[in-house]
Amino acid sequence: MTEAWRPDDDDDHQRRGAAGPVKVRVPAKINLHLGVGPVRPDGYHELSTVYHAISIYDELTARRGDTLTLTMEGEGTGELALDESNLVIRAARALAAYARVPAHARLHLRKQIPLAGGLAGGSADAAATLVACDTLWGTELSRDELAGIAAGIGSDVPFLIYGGTALGTGRGEAVSPVLARPTSWYWVVAVADGGLSTPAVYRELDRLRADRAAPEPLGSPDSLLAALRQRDPGVLAKALGNDLQAASLSLRPALSATLAAGEAAGALAGIVSGSGPTCVFLAADGAHASRIAAELSASGVCRAAHTAYGPVAGARVV
Ligand code: C5P
Repeated sequence: MTEAWRPDDDDDHQRRGAAGPVKVRVPAKINLHLGVGPVRPDGYHELSTVYHAISIYDELTARRGDTLTLTMEGEGTGELALDESNLVIRAARALAAYARVPAHARLHLRKQIPLAGGLAGGSADAAATLVACDTLWGTELSRDELAGIAAGIGSDVPFLIYGGTALGTGRGEAVSPVLARPTSWYWVVAVADGGLSTPAVYRELDRLRADRAAPEPLGSPDSLLAALRQRDPGVLAKALGNDLQAASLSLRPALSATLAAGEAAGALAGIVSGSGPTCVFLAADGAHASRIAAELSASGVCRAAHTAYGPVAGARVV
């Protein structure tokens, strides 16, 4: 535990931490397996998921300031509220309260991860803020302590502190790394026009299940974990699964055309990412991913198609 800052200790606090800007890069996540269990008394669903961090990044820069401010550029500028409701501001305030330091910083976000896309962009920004402000303020918390604060901000935030490939349980906030020999997997990420609300997608799954219109729940991720160990994309393709996919497709039927177009372009498999509407496709290698992305871009079934690889590290100072 770091020694707490004391109100009469301002000079000392100013000496701790970084004088110059702190820049943090944070990846997007996809779920290779997203098993959704029943609703819990607190309204969350019990999950068994395998998170995977991919090479599409947001960047957060933190500078010293006299108050807490947030500016942004890139994806979602003009749409995303930059006030106290923003996960970046909430993360900065949560760290400041935990470490008992003033929440003073000028934060600037450069966004590439689409908003409300099922890639955990907002959660990624919160994770980046925790890492950036921890360095800026010299609070020097461990990754595990940062992940503990992260869990209070959102279910996906702890994973984005660690990155890599990891098992998520509870509401997704309990994260343990998946140990595997290093292998890169190549993905095509098809970004849709507009987003989907995560709570609305979970509610739609509950409705489909109540009407017996949802597929059987995926349950445990054991076969996905075994496929990861085999390091063969053809094997991994058969093990990918997402219980939220039926609900996203029900709310956004056009996504079935996106999934079909990716498979027609030669992808080994395609799934909705998280709560959607982004779709991700597994490719055999980087060149294969580039060909699929070019075909998808030309087909008009998505706003943009990017190539990416994973796993990559979580939020890191660069
Ligand atoms: O944890 P987070 O705030 O990111 O979750 C957003 C929403 O997604 C929750 O309010 C809830 O409606 C839904 N959710 C859920 N079960 C989970 C995670 C999220 O129902 N395990």
